[in-house]
Amino acid sequence: MNIFFERTHQRSFGTWPLNGQRLLDALQSAIDIGYRAIDTAQLYDNEIGVGTSLRTIGIARDELCITTKIAPANDSDERFMPSLRESLAKLKVDRVDVLLLHWPPANGDVAPSVRRLEQAARAGLTRHIGISNFNAAMMRAAKAATALPLVANQVEFHPLLNQRVLLETASETGIPLSSYCSVARGEIFRYPLFDEIGARYGKSAAQVALRWILQKGVAINTMSTQRKNIESNFDVMDFTLSSIDMNRIDALTGTNYRIVNRERVPYAPEFD
Ligand SMILES: NC(=O)c1ccc[n+]([C@@H]2O[C@H](COP(=O)([O-])OP(=O)(O)OC[C@H]3O[C@@H](n4cnc5c(N)ncnc54)[C@H](OP(=O)(O)O)[C@@H]3O)[C@@H](O)[C@H]2O)c1
Repeated sequence: MNIFFERTHQRSFGTWPLNGQRLLDALQSAIDIGYRAIDTAQLYDNEIGVGTSLRTIGIARDELCITTKIAPANDSDERFMPSLRESLAKLKVDRVDVLLLHWPPANGDVAPSVRRLEQAARAGLTRHIGISNFNAAMMRAAKAATALPLVANQVEFHPLLNQRVLLETASETGIPLSSYCSVARGEIFRYPLFDEIGARYGKSAAQVALRWILQKGVAINTMSTQRKNIESNFDVMDFTLSSIDMNRIDALTGTNYRIVNRERVPYAPEFD
C-alpha cells in the first residue's frame, strides 16, 4: 500500500520555509493547480499558517492528504501525544493523513519512536504513519518495530545524489521513499543535461529531474513560491523518460551533492 502513489498524492506540495501571505499565496496556487497532498512539520513553525490558509482557500478536508512531522524535541513519551494534539489544533483538523517522525532519535534506537507513531494511529489521530531521514538500518528496525505499514521514508532525493542503498532498502522493506530537495534547491539547473533532455520532450529541466524521481518509484515533494514553477512541477505525468535518458541522469548521482547533512542539521544520522 502506498498512499503517495495514489495519482494525486504522488506530487506533494512542501511548505518549508513559507509562512504568512507567501504561504497562503503558494497554497492557493498549488490547490488551484491540483495539488492535494500538503507537507508541513512541527519544526517549520507554520502549521497554524497551513491550517488557516487551507480554511481560507476553502478546499474540502476529505480531498486533502495532510502530512506533518514530529519534531525531535517532542519524540518522547511525555511530549509526543500532547505535541501532536497541538499540531492538530493548529492545522484545524481532527487527524492528519500522514504522521512522520521528522528525524530518527539521536541514540539510534528507533523502536520506541515507532511505537509512539503506532499509538497515534491507534488513537485515530493519523490515518497513516511513516518516517523521514532514516538510513537503511533504521528503515529495517522501524519495519520490525510495528505491524502497521510505514507509508514513507521522506528523504533527500534528487539526480545529484546517489540513494541506491535506500532504494534497495525500500524494495526490501516495502517502505516507499518520498523526496525532498527534489530540484536540489536549484543546483540541478547548473547541469545542461536536464535542458538538453527536456528540449526533446518539450519539458523544462525541473520537469525532467522530477520525472526521473517518479520513474525511480519515489513520490515527489516540491516547494515553490512562483505560480509558473508550481504549475510546471505538477505537470510531469504526461511523458516518460527513455531508459537511455534515465541512465544518462543516473550518471549524475555520482556527484553526491548532499544538501541536508550533519553540518547543517544536528539531528542527521550517519547516511548510507
Ligand atoms: N523531511 C525533511 O527533513 C525535509 C527537509 C527539507 C525539505 N523538506 C520538505 O520538502 C519540500 C521541498 O524541499 P526544498 O524546498 O527544501 O527543496 P527544493 O524543492 O529542491 O527547492 C525549492 C527551491 O527550488 C526552487 N524551485 C522549485 N521548483 C522550481 C522550478 N520548477 N524551476 C525553478 N526553480 C524551482 C524554488 O524557488 P521558487 O520559489 O523561486 O520557485 C525554491 O527556492 C520543503 O518545502 C519541505 O516541505 C523536508
